[in-house]
Amino acid sequence: MLKNIMKSNKEKMIVDLDKDKLPKHIAIIMDGNGRWAKKRNLPRIAGHRAGVEALRGVIKTSSDIGIKYLTLYAFSTENWKRPAEEVKGLMELLVLYLRKEIGELHNNNVKINIIGDISKLPSKAISEIDKAVNLTSNNKGLNVNIALNYGGKSDIIHAVKGICENVLDNNLQIEDICEDTFSKYLYTRGIPDPDLLIRTSGEQRISNFLLWQIAYSELWFTKVYWPDFTSEHLIEAIHDFKHRKRRFGGLK
Ligand code: FPP
Repeated sequence: MLKNIMKSNKEKMIVDLDKDKLPKHIAIIMDGNGRWAKKRNLPRIAGHRAGVEALRGVIKTSSDIGIKYLTLYAFSTENWKRPAEEVKGLMELLVLYLRKEIGELHNNNVKINIIGDISKLPSKAISEIDKAVNLTSNNKGLNVNIALNYGGKSDIIHAVKGICENVLDNNLQIEDICEDTFSKYLYTRGIPDPDLLIRTSGEQRISNFLLWQIAYSELWFTKVYWPDFTSEHLIEAIHDFKHRKRRFGGLK
């Protein structure tokens, strides 16, 4: 009964969405898995597992309501500092997630893209990622960008190196480097900047996510731990977004 009420509430919230004011690109810092687990006396990996469940719902809803890009901070360049057991657990979870979900994601026309340097990931994870990216490469629905071994600073350094190489090879002139050129060297090339950045768990910081790309993103924070984040929360964030006045440094 409660589930049905929740469902109809979600449906009502979806109907109320103004399709013209939908963010085209939503980026999410999925934080709070560890604290969610701790509160339940569970190992941290149980929090990450529950986080994957939350992810499933958010991807489905984003796809249903017509969001074009969803970028998820799954593993940062700093996350290697965590205990080896947790890192291993997260990598295994990624492999399991892709194996289990890729068929349905593909059926739902979702296109998987990775941002970050995945060459440092375990080979099993790399091969599963390659399969997922290849299988979904022609899909035209929701673009899901998974940030893996990603950091905003390393994204910028990676771009600078690419630019330097092209300058040295005479393929690019220094005077032609502008913001648009620079964007093309980032892991997010071809992807519009996020309109809305969501962070869960009550922390209000960026943690080295998409530093260049969020210059004019609207920020939305919630105290909810990521495993408890539902489609209703996502829709609430989108409703809030539609009332923001975005001026991009101008006057209206
Ligand atoms: C932050 O919570 C979360 C992460 C570092 C990993 C996010 C990963 C998932 C949601 C699941 C795996 C993703 C895929 C694509 C399979 P935290 O551990 O920092 O939480 P805490 O701050 O409460 O300790």
